[in-house]
Amino acid sequence: MLTDKRILLIIAGGIAAYKSLELIRRLRERGAWVTPVLTRAAEEFVTPLSVSSLSGEKAYRDLFDLTDEADMGHIQLSRSADLIVVAPGTADLMAKMALGMANDLASTLLLATDTPVLVAPAMNVRMWDHPATQRNLRQLTADGIAFVGPNDGDMACGEFGPGRMVEPMEIVQAVQEVMAEGPLQGRRILVTSGPTHEPIDPVRYIANRSSGAQGSAIAQALIKLGAEVIFVTGPADAARPEGATLIEVETAQEMLSAVQQNLSVDAAVFCAAVADWRVASASDSKIKKTKGGLPVLAFAENPDILATVSQMGDGRPPLVVGFAAETDDVIENATAKRIRKGCDWIVANDVSPATGIMGGSENAVTLISDAGSEAWPRMGKVEVAEKLAARIAETLVG
Ligand code: C5P
Repeated sequence: MLTDKRILLIIAGGIAAYKSLELIRRLRERGAWVTPVLTRAAEEFVTPLSVSSLSGEKAYRDLFDLTDEADMGHIQLSRSADLIVVAPGTADLMAKMALGMANDLASTLLLATDTPVLVAPAMNVRMWDHPATQRNLRQLTADGIAFVGPNDGDMACGEFGPGRMVEPMEIVQAVQEVMAEGPLQGRRILVTSGPTHEPIDPVRYIANRSSGAQGSAIAQALIKLGAEVIFVTGPADAARPEGATLIEVETAQEMLSAVQQNLSVDAAVFCAAVADWRVASASDSKIKKTKGGLPVLAFAENPDILATVSQMGDGRPPLVVGFAAETDDVIENATAKRIRKGCDWIVANDVSPATGIMGGSENAVTLISDAGSEAWPRMGKVEVAEKLAARIAETLVG
């Protein structure tokens, strides 16, 4: 996702600097090049040797290091990156940035650059809440600086509240969002995926064979086109899409409420294989084998999430896409399903065992809309996802 992107990582002096080591690894794993810059205070918390070992690049340390200036001047250094990440962003460095000060390498780079900047603040809760820091935050936001966090939580100083730096993976996600290019930038899309598990008792459940592969691939393809994706998934085997806001659920009812809480979106794609029924009253304790006979399970119908969202009035996403896995009369059944549920598009596929689609890596789908049906040739699930994402982009953006 970040292949060959150049990130200048400014590490300021705070206890959260240790998380920046992990951040370097996570960025490198995703193909990014990371050039580290340490403030003097940062060197009290992490060593130049550890950051340069992890990044595989020289750690830049001081404005007046003449070797560095000969090697790569600070102006060039500040502009050679695709993104500057400041993590941890201390109150002090934020104040310097807000005032346009340039009295060390980090602040000079930040003043000299025309590259986008993302700051992950980290400081004591009172420092964060202080009117001066809040004023600086407003100024920097108005200047176009992006922020991720801080989070609420226990702090190294023993206090609790906002000021704790977000975790490295949250920074990676923010980096991906800031760097996203593509037609869906600025659009929010919700994707449901995977099976649901409906409990029988605390140890048993009803499930289905959905792997979540198609849903993950669709979410990933939408992210690649720049969308912000909210990924609501049941307990699926497939790898989670990178860069999505992840909401993990178990049951259909949990999935419905997660969806309803996240509906201010431009489109919603319902890939999940939601169980049609749940056990009406799941037992609180494990059902025992008895000599008296077999247990009888009474079922209740699960909410139809796709139909509920498709048929809502105010707040209905402008584009609602459903899936129809059928084994007989695929097009006819899926066309009727589109009308019955009230969604805009149905992606229909034949999941008869002979097709090998369920659990396989390929899919053969037909896209059904009010314009009719369009059969796509059999292709990989990732290609289906990319084609569908491109179609969604065309429809939303034109
Ligand atoms: O009715 P059927 O299960 O075939 O419909 C499939 C489509 O409806 C899929 O898009 C699936 O995600 C969605 N669905 C749902 N909630 C249900 C059942 C299906 O959102 N309870």
